[in-house]
Amino acid sequence: MEKFVSSWSDGKKLPESYVFPPGKRPGKVVVTAAKNVPVIDIGKAAGLDRSVIIQQVMQASQEFGFFQVINHGVLSTLLDDTRGVFEEFFALPADEKTDLCSLDKSKNCLLLTSNMAYDTEEFHNWRDTLKMDCSSLEECKQEWPLKPVKFRDIVGNYTTDVGNLALRILELICEGLGLEKSYFTRELSKKELLLVHHYPICPDPSLTLGTRSHFDPGLITILLQGDIPGLQVMKDGEWIGVEVIPGAFVVNVGSSLEFVSNGKLHSVEHRAVTSKDQSRISIAFFLLPESNCVVEPAKALVNAENPPIYRSVPYSELLNLFLAAYIGEIDSVLGKWIPDHGNTSPR
Ligand code: OGA
Ligand code: NI
Repeated sequence: MEKFVSSWSDGKKLPESYVFPPGKRPGKVVVTAAKNVPVIDIGKAAGLDRSVIIQQVMQASQEFGFFQVINHGVLSTLLDDTRGVFEEFFALPADEKTDLCSLDKSKNCLLLTSNMAYDTEEFHNWRDTLKMDCSSLEECKQEWPLKPVKFRDIVGNYTTDVGNLALRILELICEGLGLEKSYFTRELSKKELLLVHHYPICPDPSLTLGTRSHFDPGLITILLQGDIPGLQVMKDGEWIGVEVIPGAFVVNVGSSLEFVSNGKLHSVEHRAVTSKDQSRISIAFFLLPESNCVVEPAKALVNAENPPIYRSVPYSELLNLFLAAYIGEIDSVLGKWIPDHGNTSPR
């Protein structure tokens, strides 16, 4: 546990290994409601306004790559209970969590700090993260924490409900793109992952980040920000802070979805800043392709006038490029690749 930020930081001094290079530090941020990511009343998709909601989802996914959803049907008591469980979990004494500390990728549940690439990255994220596979829920649950006592039940219910919400949103996107209804329910969305980030109080938020700038590589991400802001999204060359709307989920388009849509929808760069005054927990649920699943522009969306702008790649390749970009091994923050013409270099 000695590497965990929450175990050693007294909130007074930022160690050198957490200081980001000047160009990658938080810098200037725009926080205006007028420019903020769209808020969509997703409950209305079940009624007469379905086509209006599909339109809003498509427009937000094209312009921002991000939107918030309200009236989503996941009970607010479940959101509160889930948040409570994770707050209790991170507050447990270190020796009750050491068993989970690992960088062994074959495990379904790990507690790590900064990133899986902790040992090789040049600078660290100011965060500790619980990483939980939830693809085969009953099996995965067996490796989840037993403390707090309700952990497995509550988090199991949360991932089930949020997984269903993710599929409902993908169904709207399917209709919006004009793809067959089951397009995303096959191996493209077989994997489910939950990352729970704990961002402790930070001595100097201007020099570091909780989560460095990145694109989510999967299909779609559903994030519960909680009460404390921190998420920022790149829009027209500026970082904008995503406003906190109690009970809302932040949804974002992953790079795999951008590939499938042949660039019609955009995955967007984002990051999380830290705070001097408050610690923050965010809960990110990801729907991901299986590693050998081929990610490519949907056949129905390409023709002579609209040639594929992305190469077909196994998801594992997309993920490796993404990870290399993430820790700065290749010179791209985008993690996106234009295909064909022999050009596989980052855009
Ligand atoms: C992520 C992510 C943002 C946050 O986990 O991919 O972007 O606010 N998290 O924690
Ligand atoms: Ni992300």
